[in-house]
Amino acid sequence: MKLAVPKETKEKEKRVSLTPDVVKGLVKGGFECIVEKGAGEGSFFSDEAYCQAGAAIENDKSKLFADADVLLAVNTPDSSQIGHMKRDAVLISFMWAVSSPDLVQACAKQGISSFSVDAIPRISRAQKMDALSSQANLGGYKAVLLAANTLGKILPMMTTAAGTIRPAKVVIFGAGVAGLQAIATAKRLGAVVEVSDIRPETKEQVQSLGAKFIEVKGDESIKIEGGYVKGVSPEFLKKQQELVAKHVKEADIVITTALIPGKKAPLLVTEEMVKSMRFGSVILDMAVEQGGNVAGSEMNKTLVKEGVTIIGESNLPSLLPMNASELYAKNISTFLLHLASKDGFKWEMEEEITKGSLITHKGSVVHPALSKPVTA
Ligand code: NAI
Repeated sequence: MKLAVPKETKEKEKRVSLTPDVVKGLVKGGFECIVEKGAGEGSFFSDEAYCQAGAAIENDKSKLFADADVLLAVNTPDSSQIGHMKRDAVLISFMWAVSSPDLVQACAKQGISSFSVDAIPRISRAQKMDALSSQANLGGYKAVLLAANTLGKILPMMTTAAGTIRPAKVVIFGAGVAGLQAIATAKRLGAVVEVSDIRPETKEQVQSLGAKFIEVKGDESIKIEGGYVKGVSPEFLKKQQELVAKHVKEADIVITTALIPGKKAPLLVTEEMVKSMRFGSVILDMAVEQGGNVAGSEMNKTLVKEGVTIIGESNLPSLLPMNASELYAKNISTFLLHLASKDGFKWEMEEEITKGSLITHKGSVVHPALSKPVTA
């Protein structure tokens, strides 16, 4: 089976789907690997390293797509690139299928089977394949470093002959995978950390990392399913904004990570709250791609409003491309080996991981969350 690794084309994307180390293991296991020339450059993996690992280097992107039995990518290629894939080939990448109907149609029309790594069920036995977690974890770490680097202050308390510097205060919204790593990173840097989340179990997790939990009493409008917040009412959000306002006002750094899967991110930091912050404070909105938790944040822009810097970097894992690619490569190769052997795919259609992540199959849209089936 021929596995193909394209050079990512999305703007500012530095990650690559397979690293030389992982390629080596797959080649040993009987797979053939083709890597597009320069695919690993952004992550500092050279073509030579891929060759030494047993891969062939391909210069021509269209040929790489046409030759692939399985295309392994970070981001979904665009529709014109998918058009080069052969019928019955398989695509594995982030797809965000529910919000990408055109892409899903393109895969179905081309007759390919596509698996979306963001749809892999978050069950214990799929933890090694969980690219959402591996990338969010690195994103949470980098968010704190970016914000700390922008702040004109240090984070820890420091006693010097010239006086004592008070520790910086960091407020974090959302204690999911990214938020918990942001808490741990800010604590390691010496900041005083306060956290708001609305899933009750997060209180203990936050406190065990040494941070203070901001209590916001929940109401019956909060819908939680399978560990995810599925919805909150505008009234609850207003109450939450009022309660957290004083914490935001006193913060040096605010990092927001709050998401509601499949919906627009909740607005947690209003314009008024931004205005209330001290000159020189920093906000980093990790939810910017899903509509943002912060009024006025803009995707991939750093803006200064009323003396407050608002960072809207949308692809934080790509700023740590070496680790992000290493973890992603492990996730995606474990996923591939779950689905297939060197001789072909198993197509166990009722198996939970397959069922949860298979978006199109041989020309049809098959995922239960996607409405009308389309047949090529
Ligand atoms: P997410 O990215 O969907 O959301 C981030 C956080 O935002 C969540 O903690 C959520 O509660 C919070 N949030 C939503 N609305 C909010 C509001 N109004 N104010 C404050 N916070 C708000 O979540 P993520 O990080 O992708 O995953 C979290 C869930 O997934 C947890 O239940 C976690 O245990 C579970 N999980 C399970 C895994 C497994 O078993 N394999 C692996 C990773 C996560």
